[in-house]
Amino acid sequence: MNDASPDASANARFSTRIFSGIQPSGGLTLGNYLGALKRFVEKQDEGIEAIYCLVDMHAITVWQEPARLRHATREAAAGFIAAGIDPERSILFNQSQVSAHAELAWIFNCVARMGWMNRMTQFKDKAGKDKEAASLGLYAYPALMAADILAYHATHVPVGEDQRQHLELTRDIAIKFNHDYGVDFFPVTEPLIEGAATRVMSLRDGTKKMSKSDPSDMSRINLTDDADAIAQKFRKARTDPDPLPDTLEALEGRPEARNLVNIYAALDGTSPQEVLVAFAGQGFGSFKPKLAELAVESLAPITAEMSRLMQDPAEIDALLGRGAERAEAIAAPILEQCFEIVGMVRSRRR
Ligand code: TYM
Repeated sequence: MNDASPDASANARFSTRIFSGIQPSGGLTLGNYLGALKRFVEKQDEGIEAIYCLVDMHAITVWQEPARLRHATREAAAGFIAAGIDPERSILFNQSQVSAHAELAWIFNCVARMGWMNRMTQFKDKAGKDKEAASLGLYAYPALMAADILAYHATHVPVGEDQRQHLELTRDIAIKFNHDYGVDFFPVTEPLIEGAATRVMSLRDGTKKMSKSDPSDMSRINLTDDADAIAQKFRKARTDPDPLPDTLEALEGRPEARNLVNIYAALDGTSPQEVLVAFAGQGFGSFKPKLAELAVESLAPITAEMSRLMQDPAEIDALLGRGAERAEAIAAPILEQCFEIVGMVRSRRR
């Protein structure tokens, strides 16, 4: 995929395989959709083998009300399918159904160093001021993420910008494991952080990431929002009084404007520069309604299909179960080999 990369030769013996995950807590946002889900569909449609996971074990690193977690997991699965993930072509499942993730994570807890974990900015952000009260799981989170990816010998991971540091840690874990045990067992995974929407920002503050954990619902578009809510949120989105310029450089220092241009480009499948060519000189009074219209046009069919799929939760569960079986068939032999390498006696008949 990226032959120019220095790791292309190191990974040559691994066939291209994509893995990515989304936390099923609190519903999917436009940030998840543009930064991840829409790109998952593109990768699938390029014919690349892909495994997509609803990471319910990552979700419980902060408190989740059990019934809500179960609902959100099914809803996220419905979102994937509604957005175009074909569960026959790609593998779609929830993490807790494949025990290899937790087992490999333990091995990686013993490979990763405290110093590495201490540098993780997401832990610092999520733990906030009271680090003593954060769960041990939140601290170990990136090792479980490395296990998600490496349990499948995945070579490429499409994510948004906020996951870059975790993927660097995944690479460090693979390299250290291979080095410590004198093997060439885990691939050194490539992050795929591409496109106009690798960092979708809050609609209330262009310097903050759009996030499901933001207390203000007006800061984000949810995939479950109806057309009126979407239009209202874009109408009220914070902007500045200036018209749109004709160059990207001129958007510097205008984070809210830049964010709306990026969102438009990502929804439309064009580039931010092309958006500026089309809208230069126009104020937000005319740009925002066009953006809202485009967003509704793109998201309404997904929202409708999601709620249709949610009427049959048993079907969603069955589909996740089939996905988990396929995922396990790939991960189990890799995990078995990994235990052998580490020196565990493996005499049980499986
Ligand atoms: P999560 O659940 O926070 O987000 C899922 C995906 O959506 C992307 N994303 C965004 N992209 C652009 N703009 C935004 N505002 C935005 N918000 C979220 C994220 O970058 C991500 O790609 N740790 C991961 C889940 C995970 C994972 C993995 C990902 C667990 N194991 C293995 C890849 C591979 C997370 O919390 O993502």
